[in-house]
Parts: sequence; C-alpha cells; structure tokens
Amino acid sequence: MARFYVTTPIYYVNDAPHIGHAYTTVTADALARWHRLLGDDVWFLTGTDEHGLKMQRAAEANGLTPIEQADRYSQRFREAWAQLDITNDDFIRTSEPRHYKAVQALMQAAYDNGWIELGTYEGLYCVHCEAYYAESELVEGNLCPIHRRPVEHMTEENYFFKLSAFGDRLLEWYDSSPTTVIPESKRNEAAGLVKGGLRDISISRTSISWGVPVPWDPRHVFYVWYDALINYATAVGYGEDPERFATWWPSVQHLVGKDILRFHCVYWPALLMAAGIDPPHGVAVHGFLLVGGEKMSKTSLNQIAPADLVETFGVDGFRYHFLRDQPFGPDGDFSFEGMVARYNADLANNLGNLLNRVATVVGKKCGGVGPAPDPDSRLAAVAKEGYDTAAAAWARVAPSEALEATWRLVRETNAALEAAEPWKAEPGPGVDKVLGDALEALRIMAVMATPALPNKCEEIWRRIGLPGVPSEQRLPDAARWGGYPGGLTVLTGPPIFPRIS
Ligand code: MSP
Repeated sequence: MARFYVTTPIYYVNDAPHIGHAYTTVTADALARWHRLLGDDVWFLTGTDEHGLKMQRAAEANGLTPIEQADRYSQRFREAWAQLDITNDDFIRTSEPRHYKAVQALMQAAYDNGWIELGTYEGLYCVHCEAYYAESELVEGNLCPIHRRPVEHMTEENYFFKLSAFGDRLLEWYDSSPTTVIPESKRNEAAGLVKGGLRDISISRTSISWGVPVPWDPRHVFYVWYDALINYATAVGYGEDPERFATWWPSVQHLVGKDILRFHCVYWPALLMAAGIDPPHGVAVHGFLLVGGEKMSKTSLNQIAPADLVETFGVDGFRYHFLRDQPFGPDGDFSFEGMVARYNADLANNLGNLLNRVATVVGKKCGGVGPAPDPDSRLAAVAKEGYDTAAAAWARVAPSEALEATWRLVRETNAALEAAEPWKAEPGPGVDKVLGDALEALRIMAVMATPALPNKCEEIWRRIGLPGVPSEQRLPDAARWGGYPGGLTVLTGPPIFPRIS
C-alpha cells in the first residue's frame, strides 16, 4: 500500500489564524483526502511552533508566561482547523515532552557524527532586543533601529551546524527526483541559494531559556528553527519508535510557503543528512496570498480570519475557493469580489444548478426515480479524461488544475442537458438517458470533488439516492463510468450553494 505523509508548517503562537495559514492547511487537507480516496495509508500532521524569543516577547506583552501564551494560541489554531473540517491525524506542539526527546536525539546524532561544534558568534547586539544586527541595519551610526540605543559588540559561544559541508549533497538531492522541491521555479531558487555558497550556522542560544536544552551542554537551548523543523520527525516516532519512524520516513510531503523555503529546502535536508536520515520525499513550496497587493501581516492590519469568510461562503465554499482560485506556486491576490464571482460561477451556477435541475426533472418526468446511465454515453470519455488529468494534477500538488479538470465534467453535463432539454420532452427512453447520464456525472463529481467539498459532496450523494458516503469510495474505480445503478429515489431540496449577491 502506498504511504502518504503530509505536513503543514507549524504555526507561530504569537498570531491568530488567518487565511494565509488556512491556505496551506486546506491544501494539505485536500491532498490527504485525495490520497485516502486512492486507498493510500495517510498520515496528516499540523501543529504549532511555540519556542523562541519572539514567542517569549509576545507572552510578556500579553502578561502571560510563554506556556500560557502557547496554550491559548495553539487552541485557536485547533479551533480554526476544526471549523474548516481539517482531518489532521495529529496536532503537534513543540512544547510537548515527546518533541524535546526527538529534538535532543536528532541533534545528538548530528553532534556524534561530527557535524556540530562549538564556535563563537561575533556581532553587534542590542541587549533590549536580545538580537544581533548587521551594520547596515543600524540607524544614526550605531543605534538599534527599534530602541535607538547603542548596540554592543558581543561575542557569544554558540553551537554551529557545519552546513557549508553539505552543498554538493544538497545539489545532488535536488536532482535525484522530480519531486524533491516543486514547483521547478522553487527548486531553482533553492539550488541558487546553495550555489551562492553556504555558511555554517549558529543553532544554539544561551540568552534565552524558552527552548529545548542542548543535551550535551544544557547552558544552551536550540535556536527555535532547529527545534521547529524536527517536529516532522517527532510526530512519526523519531527517537522513540524506530519502526514507526521507518514506516513513514522519508515518504513525507512537506507543504510550505515561500518565506520558509530556505529552512525547508536547504537547512532541513542538510540536518537530516547530518543525523544519518534520508531527506524528505518532497517539499512543495507555494506563494503568498496577497490582500490589496500586500502580504497579510499583523502590522499591515490586513489579516482576514477564516471564520469571517466561512460565515458568507460556508466551509466548503471557503475550501473550494482557495484550492481552485490560488494556483499552488505563484503569489495570488485575494479579493472578496473575486471570491463571490468564483463561488457563483462554479458552485452556485455550475454544480449547484446541475444537481437542482436533475433532481427536479427526475421528479417530474421519472416519478422521482433516477434512471441508469447509458454505458456508451459521450460523457464517459469526458469523465475519464477529467479523472486522468485531475489525478495527475493532485499528484504534483496542483489542486487548482485538478479541480479545473474535475469541473469540465459538470460543464459538459450541463451542456448535454441544455442540448436535450429533457424538461420539455415527453417521458421515455430519451429523457431517461440524458438524466441517467447526468446522475452518473453527479456521482463521479461527488467523489472527485470530495477533497475540496467534503460536506456538499455528501449531500449530493444523498440526494441522488446513493447509500454510504463519497469519502468511502475508492479511486480510480469510483470514477469509472457506469457506477450509478438507477432505480434510486432522487430527492429535491434547497439549493446546496445558494447564490451570493
Ligand atoms: N513557525 C514557522 C514555520 C515552522 S515549520 C517547521 C512559521 N510560522 S508562520 O505561522 O509564520 O507561517 C507559517 C506558514 O503560513 C507560511 O510558511 C505559509 O505556509 C503560511 N502563510 C502565512 N502567511 C501567508 C500568506 N499571506 N499567504 C500564504 N501563506 C502564508 O513560519
């Protein structure tokens, strides 16, 4: 059985969930659901990133301890994902004991292999920020840009990871398969970073205590990124259950935003190699969701909470929009107007209308009992082509293309109905054929669109009289033309996607 382990980045607990976070998480969820339909053994991980100076500061500003702050915000992410019907199998928090154990084990392995050593970090330090600045970042001579106080020349003992030794192995890894880093533009970007020259990197701090202690020198904690990346290994048993780890690793598909490409495509595979572990099967890197041309951020006050859109578009409407309208890879602009237009066109008019029409006409012309499809229907080829294209697109993490291909079947079915006009015709074999074909197309659609529209597809399934649920069907069989048996009671009901004006 094929295995599919999919991850989202773990989200910082100084920020509330917004549609940028939701974009990655919904994409991972849709992929997980698609692979479950294929019958794969799936493990889907998300979680929260809780250590480091930034989190410590955010907690202080809110009058909380770091763990109180983390508890509160981590819960908000859990709730946001529950509201979007995200089917993660695990939710990891980096403050959990299982994670401390895995970080220490993995880093110890890299240390024992000789890839980590003590060094000194020299730089210009602002004590108030507890951060180093480059000379170019300073203002008015040698002042910290935030506090406008003089920075100090500081020398700190840090552990360094010998990243510079991994350049060739990283380049080999990028080329080892077409899946390592996708899309290709992002793979080239990662290779460019490596070819530009890699420097050893500082991976520990002595100035803060909110982190995972370095096992061989507990005066230090690991720098937050090196603790965070390891979550992907923790969650499948690294350092605790070697058999379980071997089951899932390295068949992992990471999804990340382009802001964290360097960490996932350069630092993480190199660290794994240093610890004697295979690099991931793949990292899929997406662009930003822009609002008014800008990246969402706390400071720009342009963050949109998923709940606000769910209120208008419903959970499935929300999920569909981000999967279909924002191709995976490049940046894309989000607008409310664009979301309304897409919803009305694809969901209310195309899919919703198809269901509505078919159920109404079956009620009028066939006594409410759905006829069977024509095995030689012209739509059989459309369905096959749609499935093949969609399956290939899901496999290369291109949900927008997959859904586009899936919707071709809806459009062709609507066109066939318009050409035949069964609502005007006398009941008989001609009417039965066109309605049977439309019901079959709806059955196939309900399975294929389940990753995007899990709730509405169940409703379509129920209305066309089928037993069970679409998420329990198995692809590719369930997409094969001819599965609708006929003789089932077809129900009418309120529009599943009411138009939004
Ligand atoms: N904690 C780190 C990740 C550690 S993973 C080992 C982090 N967290 S984050 O909360 O700031 O952002 C995580 C991810 O959220 C981004 O990489 C990206 O996937 C997603 N997005 C945040 N803002 C986004 C947009 N405006 N648009 C699309 N995705 C964005 O970085």
